[in-house]
Amino acid sequence: MRTASGIYRQKLDHPGGRTEIVIGAGALSGEASGLADWLEGRTVFVLSTPRLAELHGEVLESLGGAAARVVRLEVPDGEQAKSLAHAGRLWDEMLESGGKRDSRLIAFGGGTVGDLGGFVAGCFLRGIEVVQAPTTLLAQVDAAIGGKTAIDLTGGKNTVGLFHHPARVIEDTALLATLPRAELRSGLVEVVKMAALLSPPLLERVEQELDALLAADAAALAPVVAGAAAAKCGVVERDPAEGGWRRILNFGHTLGHAIEGALNYSHLRHGEAVAYGMLFALQLAHSRGLDETLGERLRGLLGRFELPPLPPLEPADLWALMSRDKKATESGLTWVLPRALGHGEMVSGIDRGEVFQQLETFLPDPFARPPFSL
Ligand code: GLY
Repeated sequence: MRTASGIYRQKLDHPGGRTEIVIGAGALSGEASGLADWLEGRTVFVLSTPRLAELHGEVLESLGGAAARVVRLEVPDGEQAKSLAHAGRLWDEMLESGGKRDSRLIAFGGGTVGDLGGFVAGCFLRGIEVVQAPTTLLAQVDAAIGGKTAIDLTGGKNTVGLFHHPARVIEDTALLATLPRAELRSGLVEVVKMAALLSPPLLERVEQELDALLAADAAALAPVVAGAAAAKCGVVERDPAEGGWRRILNFGHTLGHAIEGALNYSHLRHGEAVAYGMLFALQLAHSRGLDETLGERLRGLLGRFELPPLPPLEPADLWALMSRDKKATESGLTWVLPRALGHGEMVSGIDRGEVFQQLETFLPDPFARPPFSL
């Protein structure tokens, strides 16, 4: 819902209660009074990174204003922060500085800070309340909403974690102005992922406003972030613990994660790898009877993203990585395949031979029109 001040408000009801989501330019300063009760008389831990302190020092300083005590916690920039070693160090710092069961934590950063901050808060003294203040588009449209938290093990990303829903998610879209274009592109892929299967009007908006969105136009971004947040909330409310339907959000992620792993998390950002994963899912869906209209439309849209090229990859390596991804279950891989605009389905039991055959044609030319259909 859009308020008169141009700020969007969304509620997410989940088994642990309700998360308030506030979206728009200036949302963080606007929400200071909303956070006052939550902070009053308490210690608040504010988790961030050196780069964010440099970029948004003033905003960072202002967080936790109404608290009795503000304790700043810092982790390095990048995925390396999501380790058990950093989580352990943060817990020690929190305990040593007098953290209690009713202390609070604010995670100010991208998906890495959000995942780690949520995990640290969810485990500290068996759980303290957290507010997520995501600073990247990817975190605002997806990662910060829905309670997933995680750290990485050597064997895989996000392999240890828990559901710990934030009390509030404050998405200040003004912070997106400092993001590089590639980071905006990566976040917008997650918007396309949700829009294609859940919200045709959102897809149309992204198609119409893509240039403004990639240029970090604040007026264009706020309604798109709000639209994606609403789509995500609808999915999470229906299936908070990812028992089934929530896996719809994995469209493009089965192959996307494997591509990231095969490239050692270099060359492509998460959303860029997911874009290739979506293109492959479209090819698989097409070979199983998907009408080509949606494929054409999404290939056209993703083509405008000017993705970095997909480096050469081997089907066997990708298959091995997909099979041991945390999204694989004992019964094998589940693919999220589009059925039509606004509709997707989970498909299991696609055998290795079929995936290999499709990868052989896909990898050399991911944007090519699929070669055949049933
Ligand atoms: N990012 C996918 C989910 O929250 O389920």
